[in-house]
Amino acid sequence: MKAQIAFLPGDGVGPEVLAEARRVLESIGRRFNHTFDIVEGDIGGVAIDRYDSPLPPPTIELVKQSNAVLLGAVGNKKYDSLPAAKKPERGLLDLRTLLGNYANLRPVYVFDPLANSSTVRPEVVRGVDIMFVRELLGGIYFGTPRGREGDRAFDTEVYTVEEVRRVSRVAFELARSRRKLVTSVDKANVLESSILWRQTVAEVAKDYPDVKLENLYVDNCAMQLILRPKQFDVVVTSNLFGDILSDEGGVLAGSLGMLPSGSIGGPAGFYEPVHGSAPDIAGTGKANPIGAIGSVAMMLEHSFKLPDLAARVQRAIAAAIDQGLRTADIFSPGHTLVTTKQMGDAVCKIIETSDATKNAV
Ligand code: IPM
Ligand code: MN
Repeated sequence: MKAQIAFLPGDGVGPEVLAEARRVLESIGRRFNHTFDIVEGDIGGVAIDRYDSPLPPPTIELVKQSNAVLLGAVGNKKYDSLPAAKKPERGLLDLRTLLGNYANLRPVYVFDPLANSSTVRPEVVRGVDIMFVRELLGGIYFGTPRGREGDRAFDTEVYTVEEVRRVSRVAFELARSRRKLVTSVDKANVLESSILWRQTVAEVAKDYPDVKLENLYVDNCAMQLILRPKQFDVVVTSNLFGDILSDEGGVLAGSLGMLPSGSIGGPAGFYEPVHGSAPDIAGTGKANPIGAIGSVAMMLEHSFKLPDLAARVQRAIAAAIDQGLRTADIFSPGHTLVTTKQMGDAVCKIIETSDATKNAV
């Protein structure tokens, strides 16, 4: 297979974690004869510095020509005082809109040896395997009117039936290949948009009689995630609630640095770790590249329809953890503290030396 990938490292730890993700993709390509043409572009703060825009025209051109997009992180304190429309984060939001990927998949998977790395008790998190499906192109992130009038500021949470329908379908389809449970999360006891959300998900559920639907209010869901996270299979929710709940998922997995994501629905998939630019640790080698590497696995699965290779990357990550390698965020005594690059090296080495037969590591 031959594919072009827009490679957008962005700000803070973005370039460091993406360098490791890139090496993993290249290892897979070399080993299994796929040509991944990786073309770099600027986004976020680095793009503001170079082009005075967080999503400059050359990057727009690049992503339009690419089969998939891999992004590191955006955000830089330097730009905190800029208006929202000029901030690095705007580049990411505009890119999501441009690509049209309305379903953001955020798997929260607890690797067994990391059950002790969470602040939540090991017996509670061991075995957690949740797929968050976050609506990505609507809700309060994009709703109008929004603005500020003197002492008053406002945003609008808005959803249409079609927006809810399409993301719900993704959730039900995913549930079919998993444990056949969809939990829809809303605030239908208070919000009109949530009432519409709940009704629409219920309509879609009729097409999936083999999948069970449960509804939870978001406040209860936030509590249940810490109390009894193993009850969840697929969780579908709005843009804002998905943003918040998936960070909570990071606590279950041991660190936000563990979480990958993939956004689908548009012509080219978009892959990025869930964590942000973490400027406080940028350049120190402390960043965990597993979220970024896991995002490569999601790209192989969802954009390139290479599930065997995706599983291989996933198994290589698991093997590196089994070897006791830990970046600072997931470190605990008795393990080997490694840098971003050393973790990437280990995953690449496992891929390169693995048995080429189907289910080997
Ligand atoms: C995320 C991030 C972004 C979001 C920010 C950087 C705009 O927090 O991907 O979860 O809120 O979607
Ligand atoms: Mn977030």
